[in-house]
Amino acid sequence: MYGLINKAIQDMICSKFGPEIWLEVRHKAEVEEQFVNIKSYHDNVTYRLILAASEILGLSDAEVMKAFGEHWVRYTAAEGFSEIIDMCGESLPEFLENLDNLHARVGIVFPKLQPPSFECAEAEENSLHLHYYSSREGLAPMVFGLLEGLGKRFDTKVEVTQIQSREEGHDHDEFAVNYQANRSV
Ligand code: HEM
Repeated sequence: MYGLINKAIQDMICSKFGPEIWLEVRHKAEVEEQFVNIKSYHDNVTYRLILAASEILGLSDAEVMKAFGEHWVRYTAAEGFSEIIDMCGESLPEFLENLDNLHARVGIVFPKLQPPSFECAEAEENSLHLHYYSSREGLAPMVFGLLEGLGKRFDTKVEVTQIQSREEGHDHDEFAVNYQANRSV
């Protein structure tokens, strides 16, 4: 994955747990000192960082991925992608519909991007089913964090349940998302 992802993991660990913990994680994961945003790294680097962080922090891999997903929404906005993010919608459901467009735009900057794909199906009012397709394994917990981060961005209360999982043999993961925008008076 692109260095941007690994740098965001670094930033999440430094800001939440401190730079000395990051040094421990980096050492344990045996990764290089400085990541470059637009350089493509082997996916193993990202998985090693997640594993090392979970061992050092005493958290599960899923908890680390969730924290990372939540951080990602703020991080990308702060790292020069806020215009793309702004263009993709003004509400949580609109934004989720546009996730593939978002990654297509991101692909202009990162030509070797292997993005995930998301499909939205409206279930009923204030609830939808989000289908997540990926060429990679084991990243579904990150989606929980991403939805939490997006909920904060759109000032929307979000409840997520995973209703189908690749770990159980399905070809993709599926989430039920209930949401309620907090409209300020
Ligand atoms: C402008 C904001 C964003 C940027 C710049 C961005 C960029 C990227 C990049 C560079 C990767 C790594 C893939 C690779 O290097 O081949 C990635 C993966 C991913 N992105 Fe985004 N992304 C953004 C927003 C989002 C949002 C809002 C979601 C919410 C669902 C999301 C979901 C994912 C997931 C789940 C992956 C993991 C890869 C996989 O499933 O195969 N991204 N994205």
